[in-house]
Amino acid sequence: MEKPLRLAIQKSGRLSEKSLQIIAKCGIKFGSNSRLLREEAENFPLEFLYLRDDDIPRYIHDKVADIGIVGRNEYDEQNLPLEVLRDLGFAKCRLSVAVPEGFNYTGLNSLEGKRIATSYPHILKSKLKEVGVNANIYEISGSVEITPSIGVADAICDLVSTGATLASNGLKEVEPIYRSTAVLIGRSDLEEEKKVILNRLLMRIDAVMKADDYKYIMFNLPKEHLGEVAQIIGGMKSPTVTPLFDDTWVAVQTVVQEKEFWDVLEQLKELGAQGILVTAIEKMAD
Ligand code: PRP
Ligand code: ZN
Repeated sequence: MEKPLRLAIQKSGRLSEKSLQIIAKCGIKFGSNSRLLREEAENFPLEFLYLRDDDIPRYIHDKVADIGIVGRNEYDEQNLPLEVLRDLGFAKCRLSVAVPEGFNYTGLNSLEGKRIATSYPHILKSKLKEVGVNANIYEISGSVEITPSIGVADAICDLVSTGATLASNGLKEVEPIYRSTAVLIGRSDLEEEKKVILNRLLMRIDAVMKADDYKYIMFNLPKEHLGEVAQIIGGMKSPTVTPLFDDTWVAVQTVVQEKEFWDVLEQLKELGAQGILVTAIEKMAD
């Protein structure tokens, strides 16, 4: 039997739900028992390992897992020889310096000689080195936000997503030093049969991510404006055009990039487009 590809996913936390969602959108069935630490997909050679996100890069490096979904922050902090296979775009957050309300912060120079608590010493050190600031880094694995109030640190450097954790600990974010999103990482020395499975999975992930970037749009248009519509839709392949009973009109179907969608819609209306229908696309492959 084919050896499954082993995918490490955060057991519970900021990344878990969206990580599972993207795999589910790939048509892979799993999740019959949410208390399991490991399980096999029903219809694809994939085994899930549910782990602490901080441990995932090392487990991949040590060949316990083959690939994994982590924040880019974890990948860069640990600096292991792994590959980023895809930037998945979700779980956007930043690594920021935060200080207690009374701290007079005027820039990274204000940290000279101070004690900064963080779980990201590697990223922080390289930033401080870049700007020539000497500080004492106090490495801690969790609950960084309480260190100023118990007198362990003058400032912290921690991940910020909504900012709620900082606010509830009386800290203000003063300087983002690094930005992160979720990435799919893996070893570059996968066995051949696992590489084949990985490529099948990547093709599905790409189709899911691409579909999220586009909308499918259908509308009726006075035939005389067809040329102008082709220009608006620009870079896309030519739209599908169907004649209508009234031969001065045509029906048009095409895909539009999500980020250009509202501009395109306004321009279509100006050209007299009617009956505009827009739908999400579930999967999209070349
Ligand atoms: C980060 C960070 C904060 C929280 C900030 O933890 O350490 O605790 O998120 O989020 P907020 O700005 O929305 O309040 P993470 O999710 O990485 O968990 P972990 O530290 O347990 O790995
Ligand atoms: Zn973590």
